[in-house]
Amino acid sequence: VAHRVAVVGASGYGGVELLRLLAAHPSLDTEVVAAHSQAGTPVARLFPNLPGDRVFDAIDVEQLAALDLVFLATPHGPALELGAALYDAGVPVVDLSAAFRLSVDGFSTWYGEEHPRPDLAAGDPAAADDVVYGLPELDRSRLAGARLVANPGCYPTATLLGLAPLAPLLVPGSVVVDAKSGTSGAGRGTKDELHFSHVHGDLAAYGAPAHRHTGEIERWLPGELGPISFTPHLVPMSRGLLATCYGTVRDGVAAADLADALHDAYAAEPFVEVLPSGTFPHTKALAGSNGCQLSAVVDQRTGRVVVTSAIDNLGKGAAGQALQNANLLLGLEETTGLTAIGVYP
Ligand SMILES: NC(=O)c1ccc[n+]([C@@H]2O[C@H](COP(=O)([O-])OP(=O)(O)OC[C@H]3O[C@@H](n4cnc5c(N)ncnc54)[C@H](OP(=O)(O)O)[C@@H]3O)[C@@H](O)[C@H]2O)c1
Repeated sequence: VAHRVAVVGASGYGGVELLRLLAAHPSLDTEVVAAHSQAGTPVARLFPNLPGDRVFDAIDVEQLAALDLVFLATPHGPALELGAALYDAGVPVVDLSAAFRLSVDGFSTWYGEEHPRPDLAAGDPAAADDVVYGLPELDRSRLAGARLVANPGCYPTATLLGLAPLAPLLVPGSVVVDAKSGTSGAGRGTKDELHFSHVHGDLAAYGAPAHRHTGEIERWLPGELGPISFTPHLVPMSRGLLATCYGTVRDGVAAADLADALHDAYAAEPFVEVLPSGTFPHTKALAGSNGCQLSAVVDQRTGRVVVTSAIDNLGKGAAGQALQNANLLLGLEETTGLTAIGVYP
């Protein structure tokens, strides 16, 4: 039986990647493709990879409430409202924004707003049991039957996959994350600094030392490893995200212990591949896939491990992971519709 789903924010970059993935999913029917200012615009006018005469719908909560699952791919403001309304109406939601990823305190610290619904803040002790942070490789136990899934951010996904298995082996306070993303990470809305002529041939950091994803990484990295230093960079490519993570290794921990921890965590995972130490993942290899490739080297001179973790920011960093979470939520095989390997070169 097909499940009827909607994508809200379908006119954005996370939205279009969801539409592309859903078009190939055997048991999810995309009944609603809702946009905000683009409601009424033909989908193909914005996204030539999706030809046809479908037109973006307006957002209608009553119509959404009749479906089996709703993907929200809007900024966190509208997601807070829509997510709460749909949760209250009993419709499962996978939200790609930051609206539900933190605790209430974390949300006010990092987003400067009061969270309106402590019961829906996945990172909060007061969150309902069916409100879940959706990084399946860290914890998939509560995703089956969840009603609101907070899909992780792109930088936190790459960083947490790289560091979580190593957390007990690292010295608290020693972690530094230096990360780079392609420009689609900033969404489709035109911003001056994202014009081709600004970005092409350029490389710069932004957001340090308090980019909002810092709080999400600290919240979900196991074992009280924080505070961490996190600096993202914008790189002149459309897709792809690489997190280079440094941490001081605890006394008595050998390089083989780190390698074993990564191997044990991911040997059975369909979407995470640990590369041999000394080889380094390429973002290009993950383009269009839901994969993450990572590897670790230990620098014996400094006592630090260096983990590099690569994803497609729109794949495992957004739409791919959202679909993985939806599969789990609906009781489908986790990998359904997500088995494509990356487009290379
Ligand atoms: N891009 C990534 O790599 C990435 C990765 C992980 C998570 N995310 C998160 O996913 C969400 C979507 O990101 P994106 O990159 O796809 O952004 P985007 O390209 O800017 O698209 C935003 C979408 O939200 C809609 N929208 C804007 N304001 C709205 C409002 N007030 N009410 C309802 N809908 C509204 C837009 O509709 P119109 O265009 O019709 O106005 C558009 O469909 C964000 O929360 C972002 O943080 C993005």
